[in-house]
Amino acid sequence: MSVHPDRNLKEAAPAPPPLGAGTAGDRIAAAPSAAPILAVNNIEVVYDHVILVLKGVSLKVAKGEIVALLGANGAGKSTTLKAISNLLAAERGEVTKGSIVFDGEEVHARSPNELVRRGCIQVMEGRHCFAHLSVEENLFTGAFTRRDGSAAIRRDLDLVYSYFPRLKERRSSTAGYISGGEQQMCAIGRALMSRPKTILLDEPSMGLAPQLVEEIFEIVGDLNAKEAVSFLLAEQNTRMALKYARYGYVLENGRVVLDGEAKALGENEDVKEFYLGVSEGRRKSFREGKHYRRRKRWLA
Ligand SMILES: Nc1ncnc2c1ncn2[C@@H]1O[C@H](COP(=O)(O)OP(=O)(O)OP(=O)(O)O)[C@@H](O)[C@H]1O
Ligand SMILES: [Mg+2]
Repeated sequence: MSVHPDRNLKEAAPAPPPLGAGTAGDRIAAAPSAAPILAVNNIEVVYDHVILVLKGVSLKVAKGEIVALLGANGAGKSTTLKAISNLLAAERGEVTKGSIVFDGEEVHARSPNELVRRGCIQVMEGRHCFAHLSVEENLFTGAFTRRDGSAAIRRDLDLVYSYFPRLKERRSSTAGYISGGEQQMCAIGRALMSRPKTILLDEPSMGLAPQLVEEIFEIVGDLNAKEAVSFLLAEQNTRMALKYARYGYVLENGRVVLDGEAKALGENEDVKEFYLGVSEGRRKSFREGKHYRRRKRWLA
């Protein structure tokens, strides 16, 4: 683990099969390939021409892996995801420095639609569903960029229902009236309908009961393992994110202050104290706590 190094993934694995190629058999551990599907290189983001929010963020997601983007309120997680999926313009934000490469191509100038077509889609924070449409209609809207015909889209609808049986039960219900957990499932299911290679998933745990959070993360883990969908997962729920991710980045004040294998991050004393709410069975001294805060200030 390191403080903001250039990561060098050593694992080698074959390219993931397309969505839907997975078998319904055993869950296999996702094998990330060395080639990153997504590389964010030293980006800066400014809102309203003056508010500098991201101050040089770099990260990588290898094909077929789950990467966690951790950090407290306002750290810049959602901004990073929106920078990748090119959704900042709607909020008067822009990437003013750095580059974003998805699947071998610089995507800075690509529209969100084009990015979806290329296989990169964001599930926004707050599980945005079309409240007045049924669950199934919501899922169909996810296929709007596709040109491979209704039979293929139907097959993927069945695939989504196989991962989210609750959605099948609620297929005719108005999305605005289903539970928060079901809305989150609907938002992820809709993203799957675009046949993504990578999903940028923003705070899937937000406002959900622990059991539902567990259920949703389990499905995300399954989708990663069986369908080889890569995830960049922005989460404040550090414990859950590190349980399912292979690698993680900690954002603070618009900068990556720590990154490393999920296991090592989970064992890191600073992460334990500041993000997991535990320390080595003893209360850390104020001086030790201050050391990290000083480091945070220095990095800011
Ligand atoms: N449209 C905007 N205009 C101006 N500032 C913004 C805008 N959106 C976000 N910010 C600011 O950018 C910073 C990062 O916000 P962001 O939403 O990316 O954080 P986050 O890590 O996703 O936080 P949370 O966990 O609360 O979702 C915050 O200080 C926020 O106030
Ligand atoms: Mg956010």
